[in-house]
Amino acid sequence: MKVAVLGAAGGIGQALSLLLKTGLPAGSELSLYDVAPVVPGVAVDLSHIPTDVKVAGFGADALDKALTGCDIVLIPAGMPRKPGMDRADLFNVNAGIIKTLAEGIVANCPKALVGIITNPVNGTVPIVAEVFKKAGTYDAKRVFGITTLDVIRSEAFVAELKGVDVATVKVPVIGGHSGTTILPLLSQVEGVTFTEEEVAALTPRIQNAGTEVVNAKAGGGSATLSMGAAAARFCMSLVKGLQGEDVVDYAYVAVENGDAAYFAHPVRLGKNGVEEILSYGELSAFEEQAKNDMLDTLKKDIQEGVDFINA
Ligand code: NAD
Ligand code: LMR
Repeated sequence: MKVAVLGAAGGIGQALSLLLKTGLPAGSELSLYDVAPVVPGVAVDLSHIPTDVKVAGFGADALDKALTGCDIVLIPAGMPRKPGMDRADLFNVNAGIIKTLAEGIVANCPKALVGIITNPVNGTVPIVAEVFKKAGTYDAKRVFGITTLDVIRSEAFVAELKGVDVATVKVPVIGGHSGTTILPLLSQVEGVTFTEEEVAALTPRIQNAGTEVVNAKAGGGSATLSMGAAAARFCMSLVKGLQGEDVVDYAYVAVENGDAAYFAHPVRLGKNGVEEILSYGELSAFEEQAKNDMLDTLKKDIQEGVDFINA
């Protein structure tokens, strides 16, 4: 298994790379790419951890080398938010970065499974897809927006609120990854019931959890450690799928005849990425209303990404 992290010297990149160095199956390779000159040092640092995962660092002029032969590419490259900004405010800076990196994937590992973390995810995932379509290498089964942070936050918050064992809590989260487009399905959490007041308070807390971190870091960036954990968890799901295990996880994927062209669903993963997009099941009246209310925003975010490549 060869996994690349693009943006590996950043806050998420370093946390994620550490978790992959200690968590990938024995014999794997970890390829760390960043434009920041510290990236070879990050690779040397990690290489002193005694696991059977080989690490190499690649600087600004070595994207091709970093990507050659990769099975999985994870992308946390780009600018994070500061207090007062929306994720959409990052589009102008991050869209160009994502485009360049997607072109590198086309040239060097067009069959890789690609997990996109860079914000705004609602729009950066369509950018990658459109670059791949233009190059004739697009396979919708291989492109994922990583929404696992919304899932793990929901697990943490539900366990805290209800005093249940966090290891047993599973919370479906569908939609996109910004504000109201993040839709936790609290009605589907097994073994726990919520009052209407709890749903009305917990839903926006999950939707605004990114802002909670941005404000707490007071100008020092956004979630990095929890995101590193989330991306590592999602990467392990991709790895298990590639190894032939039957695994279901949530991700923002292209959906035909769905609520929007891209929508986070439960997906069955396998040797080719998405084997099956599963139904998210029945929604409560509150969730149905919240979904209908956010679809215009999500569709606009998606169109911005599509237009960035095609306009
Ligand atoms: P950071 O500033 O700490 O790190 C970003 C890294 O990207 C830096 O090391 C920088 O050198 C690198 N970079 C910039 N341009 C690059 C390029 N062209 N090629 C390779 N590397 C490049 O930021 P961070 O906190 O790690 O956040 C990274 C991104 O992830 C942001 O856009 C942030 O909004 C997003 N994010 C997404 C989620 C999510 O749930 N999807 C969660 C948290 C953060
Ligand atoms: C998050 O949800 O923490 C990330 O999308 C970063 C952000 O800007 O909120």
